[in-house]
Parts: sequence; C-alpha cells; structure tokens
Amino acid sequence: MYSFDKKVNRINTNSIKWDLQSHQYGKDNLLPFGIADSDYESPKEVTKALLDRIKQGVFGYTFVSEEYRETVCKWHKRRYKYDISKDMIITVPKVLNGIATAIRQFTAENDDIIISPPVYPPFSNLIINNNRNLVPNRLINKDEVYTIDFNDLETHFKNGAKMYILCNPHNPVGRVFNKAEISKIINLCIKYDVFLVSDEIHCDLILEGHEFYSVGNFFGVYDKIIVCTAPSKTFNMAGLRCANIIIKNEKIRDEFLGYIENHSLKGANLLALTAAEAAYKCDYWVDAQSKHLLNNFNYAKDYLNKYAPRVKFANPEATYLIWLNFQFLGLKSVELIKELADFGIALNSGCDYCNDYDGYLRMNIACPIDQLKEGLKRIVNYLDSKK
Ligand SMILES: Cc1ncc(COP(=O)(O)O)c(C=O)c1O
Repeated sequence: MYSFDKKVNRINTNSIKWDLQSHQYGKDNLLPFGIADSDYESPKEVTKALLDRIKQGVFGYTFVSEEYRETVCKWHKRRYKYDISKDMIITVPKVLNGIATAIRQFTAENDDIIISPPVYPPFSNLIINNNRNLVPNRLINKDEVYTIDFNDLETHFKNGAKMYILCNPHNPVGRVFNKAEISKIINLCIKYDVFLVSDEIHCDLILEGHEFYSVGNFFGVYDKIIVCTAPSKTFNMAGLRCANIIIKNEKIRDEFLGYIENHSLKGANLLALTAAEAAYKCDYWVDAQSKHLLNNFNYAKDYLNKYAPRVKFANPEATYLIWLNFQFLGLKSVELIKELADFGIALNSGCDYCNDYDGYLRMNIACPIDQLKEGLKRIVNYLDSKK
C-alpha cells in the first residue's frame, strides 16, 4: 500500500505550488501549504496505465470511450450512491470550463448569480468577467461553524436570481452539506426557477464520520441541475486535465454541448482519460487517503490548540483544507502571508475568498506528516515572534 507519508520531490516539475512562489510571496523555497493539489503520488495503477499507453507511442485525436463513461457511472453509483447514464456525462478539461459554460449558456448579461462566500475565488471572477451580477449569500459563521443562510438565499431567489453556484463539499470551510440542506436548496430552486450548478470536485475527500449527499440525487426531480465532478483533486492529477459535467435533461445537455462545441472545449486529452479511467477503479486508495487526511487534520488540530490556542478554525468534514482565523492579530491577509513567508511557509490569503475574511488563511494539509509538522512549527514560531 502506498505510504501517504512518503516524501516526493516536486521541485523543478513546473509545479505551481512548489516552483511558482516568488510572484505571490516575494520569495522562493517556501514550504507550500497553498494551492489545492496534494503532494501524494497518484495510485500506481494510474502510473502503470499511463506508461502502458505511452509505450504504444502514437498520440493522435482521441474520443471519450464508452469504457471511460461506464467507469464514471460505476464510480458515481458506488461512491455517491446515485445512478447516472453514460450519455449524461460531458467530458471537458476542467470543472471551471463547465461552470463558465453554464454561466454563459444559461444566464444573460446582468443576471444575478449567487455564490456562498467565503468560497473558491474563480467563481466570482467568472461571474464578474462574464458581465453577470455577483450576489453573495454569505455563509453564517458561528464560532467557525458554517451554515447556509437560507433566509438570505430565498430573498435573492425571490428577487430574481437566475443561478446558484454551490460548492459542495465547500472550499475553503470544509462543510459537506447534509441531505436536509441539499433538499432545502433544491426546493428553493424549484420554487423560484433557479438554475443550480453544483461543484462537487472535492466529494471524494470525505472525512470519517461524514457522508456526502450529491445534488445529483435530484436529477429526476428537477431539470435545471448541473453537477461537476473530477478525478483531479481525488487522485492528484489536476495537471492532466479532465472533468465530468453531468446533466440529465436532454434539452439542457444539448444546449450545453452546443456551447462547448462552438468554443472547442469538448473532450479531454488522451492521457488524462487513460489516467482517470484507471483511477476511478482505485477505491481502496481513496479510502486510505481519507484516513491519512483525517490523521493529518487531527495532528494539526491538537498542535494548534496546544501551541497556538488563539487560532480558531473550522473542523473540516471533507477536503484537505483548514480555514484558519488569524484575525486576533489585527493584520490583513496580505500582511500575514508576507510575514509568514519570512518564516518559510506559504499559505493562501483568506480575503481572496471573501472581503469579510481578511485576516483568515487557508492551509492545505494534503502532504506527508513530517511536512505538516514542519509547517505548523513555522506558524507557531511566527506567532511566538509576535508576543
Ligand atoms: C471548488 C473548486 N472547483 C474547481 C476547482 C478547479 O478545478 P479545475 O482545475 O478542474 O477547473 C477547484 C480547485 O481548487 C476547486 O477547489
């Protein structure tokens, strides 16, 4: 079995996390806990499938095979407990291609589109840069326990919002919205005829004691649903580029397909498809990874509670992200990032996820435990220097 504590050298591999630090942090050679890829090797089955394919030596135009579609259907059934059919899967290079397409195809300029901040920053950029109106439905934060503000959400729906982009599991707060919450969202979407785009890219990273409930469970109930999944976070293959956009309603799917055909976005590269097909059979690896992530989180939790008790944070139910509240220092996230870089560590700035969260940081803990230990030590050294 692969050891998730194995140290893998990613330096000089064109890794954004390891090799592209100076423009963001003003220096290089930082221990990185920022951008959301893991430091794990993909499953050996993935590497083998890639090597076998590469040995054949010809890399011409490629279609998305029936076997790939079948494998994705089975994965959804086994892991997320709902049925999809092969024709419902539209393969594109990136989840963000799917979300951008949904925005362009199913809303018009100046339409209101809702997101739930603090949330993955490109959602805002896609809405604003496509001349739609960004409407924040801020999560309720009660002592770092985050929930959806349904009253506020309904008000925006009532005021005519056309689309809601849900992030479930939620990046950065790590919530897995439960069946009751998802059902409530669906009922509101039906009531006010709102298009629901559910970004479920983190849904394989569920921590023990929690259960994932996909919006896809409602495919037969409501037509205006798009679900996005991908092997990229799960198996650490974001650089290969492959995502599944799942749409049941035929008319909506045809419209979506029409857009991606007109913009040459359809399909994924052949090595990505080869890798993804192999990956989507590695349940054992995903289960082991989840155990490792929980172990890492528990270590970080105990360490921070003991040595940095003023830092409060959300308990993730999924993802490999910890959302840390450093507001007690009274510094802006950009200042925090810069000062922490002087202690040799790279983290993500909280205000990128929502202006209200200036002074928060996001820490990616998907790495060998020794690396995590060193990173936490550097955070505590930094905080000690402030005393
Ligand atoms: C919630 C969420 N959606 C989408 C993405 C990006 O996915 P892709 O590279 O497939 O567009 C990320 C990456 O961090 C993410 O966290």
